[in-house]
Amino acid sequence: MPKQVLWAGRLKEKPEAEAFAFQASIGVDRRLALDDIAGSRAHAAMLAKQGIIPAAAAAKIDRELARIAGELGSGRLTVDPDAEDIHSYIEGVLTERLGDAGRMVHAGRSRNDQVATDFRLYLKRTIPELRNGLALTVSTLLDRAEEHAESVMPGYTHLQRAQPVTLGFHLCAWASALVRDRGRFGDALDRLDECPLGSGALAGSGLPLDRRATAQALGFARTSLNAMDSVADRDFALETAAAVSITMVHLSRFCEDTALWASEEFGFASLAESWSTGSSIMPQKKNPDFAELIRGKAGRAAGNLVTLITVLKGLPYAYNKDLQEDKEALFDSIDTLLSCLAMFRGMIGSAAFNTKRMEAACGGGFLEATDAAEYLVRKGMPFRAAHETAALVVRDCLDAGRRSITEQSLEELRGRSALFEKDIFGVLAPLACVRARGLPGGPAPKEVRRQIRELRKRSLS
Ligand code: ARG
Repeated sequence: MPKQVLWAGRLKEKPEAEAFAFQASIGVDRRLALDDIAGSRAHAAMLAKQGIIPAAAAAKIDRELARIAGELGSGRLTVDPDAEDIHSYIEGVLTERLGDAGRMVHAGRSRNDQVATDFRLYLKRTIPELRNGLALTVSTLLDRAEEHAESVMPGYTHLQRAQPVTLGFHLCAWASALVRDRGRFGDALDRLDECPLGSGALAGSGLPLDRRATAQALGFARTSLNAMDSVADRDFALETAAAVSITMVHLSRFCEDTALWASEEFGFASLAESWSTGSSIMPQKKNPDFAELIRGKAGRAAGNLVTLITVLKGLPYAYNKDLQEDKEALFDSIDTLLSCLAMFRGMIGSAAFNTKRMEAACGGGFLEATDAAEYLVRKGMPFRAAHETAALVVRDCLDAGRRSITEQSLEELRGRSALFEKDIFGVLAPLACVRARGLPGGPAPKEVRRQIRELRKRSLS
């Protein structure tokens, strides 16, 4: 327990050490130290400008807070693990060093608007890191997509081979999801960009604070509108946790694909040895642990979101100590996503793709059947009839033990429809099927290259 507890005045009895430790949050919110100092510097400068504290005191406070920030940065000062929280710790150090001037800094402020401000400041500097991590990951995916714009592979529905696509197309699908995620973080950032300072405990302050000045000094776009909302609201944490969780769900799906591709059964990808692990008993093993762990950590991010939403549910207005549980969950989500993005980049960036095996997998499953039906539609057959004709051709093949429509002779095909001509064989090769699907959004290499350019643009905007 620290020597000085901020709220000790009213209470005759000291809390038990264990109880004090239970309600402390220093172990978690210490990472807000620099945000807290920035908030206090802006607040103190404003207090002086408004004539609430002497200019000389404000100057001393500012200098000392800058010094504390420097010392924390260099390690000369370390946060006291027995302090209650980062707000009381910083104010405590200031007061210990400055005496009365330090005691002036909290005028017109509560830890309730202080913590809401610190948390938002933290997210204002951290969300851009997440967005950057996403942009880098998109870039890695698109580099690989560019390499493999013409590498045909089966596309799946129901985990059954469906139609030929390319690896570049598949990777663009992944990148599209991450570009949206990046946008979601941007939206959250725009909405959280308002300053709660001046909201006090819940009801503002009778002192002539200048809320616009502190908001501006801290780089916020605007001041928050309603003091009670400002201290009770954690939508910004929820939104960020939701955006993290959605991104982690995306990564986990990519990792599921990757683990399948790395299996002997698929054999589409071979993960770098440096991005694989072995087994303690089976000497031959090379496991996709990184993919699995990212997939597993999506559960953690979902858990954090549920933690937050459950803490908030049913909370009476305004501030309640339950809210202190918000930071641990969100910090963990953010740390998890940052590390998973880096690991995912390393794993995918170094993977070797077995294009021969992917191409071979396009044969033998009648992936060209839809293209055969569309061939007939182009020759004037109604789609339902074309679908049935192509299905009968597939059945003929199965009966004859053939693995592809192109193994049928022209005569056999014409037995099903006179519309089949010699050109059908060229149309049904996997790369030809893919090339023919050049609509916007399609897998044709030229179109995939356009998607890559577009995704690159969107991931940087
Ligand atoms: N450590 C607290 C939190 O993280 C700071 C706010 C405390 N406010 C209070 N009235 N006890 O929420």
